[in-house]
Amino acid sequence: MSEKTKILFLGDIVGRPGRHGVRKFLEKNGSGYDFIIANVENASHGYGLTRRNYEEISSFGIDAMTSGNHIWDRKEIFEYINDADKLIRPLNFPEGAPGVGSGVFKTEKGFLIGVINILGVVFMSPLIPPWELLKKEIEKLKEKTPVIILDCHAEATAEKMSCGYIAAKQGASAVIGTHTHVQTADETLLKNTTAYITDAGFCGSQRSVIGMDVDTSVERLVKALPVRLEVGPMDRVQINGVEFVVDCKTGHAESIVRINEVLNLKEEVS
Ligand SMILES: [Fe+2]
Ligand SMILES: [Fe+2]
Repeated sequence: MSEKTKILFLGDIVGRPGRHGVRKFLEKNGSGYDFIIANVENASHGYGLTRRNYEEISSFGIDAMTSGNHIWDRKEIFEYINDADKLIRPLNFPEGAPGVGSGVFKTEKGFLIGVINILGVVFMSPLIPPWELLKKEIEKLKEKTPVIILDCHAEATAEKMSCGYIAAKQGASAVIGTHTHVQTADETLLKNTTAYITDAGFCGSQRSVIGMDVDTSVERLVKALPVRLEVGPMDRVQINGVEFVVDCKTGHAESIVRINEVLNLKEEVS
């Protein structure tokens, strides 16, 4: 049996256009992957994740979900996160926060995949720096599997790149940046073992400001008022992410390829 596993990581799913587009994308391409991870921090109208949307996204065939600074945006998250087996919140919240910062999942072929999520601390709301916690968490998961995928949810490019090298040194198989929603073109194999990209991008409305409606985004910026942001239109949806192959015996990544597809959903929404 081949010991390679092909993993898909989808950038932040934003609102209904993102959910709908990801469903369509996976209907066509999902069977080509052994394991699928998506960042879901913006999946419910741009803010957080309702239980209903958690279940909906689960049903698309997504195996693990990571998140970020928007994880607590929906009050109901506190009621269901401890039962949501696929959902991980950032590791570096203070002790006592509900949910977990990592998980170990089993693929259909029987391989174990460790997934960790951290929040950056540069240009973000104050939080415990994740570096010591991350080191311990990688060591802990390494006792179960050599395959460790890290979602580094952060604002600053330099912080994400540094995070890539930190986690590569500790033996992570992949470090995928999220949060800025714009896909970077710097995918690479760090140390020849760790798949890396500074930002995976986002899945959602293409004619938008990082997934949100252009007019309300511009109004909010220009007026400097807390204008309620709407999600962008449904007609053209972009799917951003990366796919990478990992040797399950060594935990080393062997390739990383960007995904940047635009789905024309006009006929379906008119
Ligand atoms: Fe996001
Ligand atoms: Fe974020």
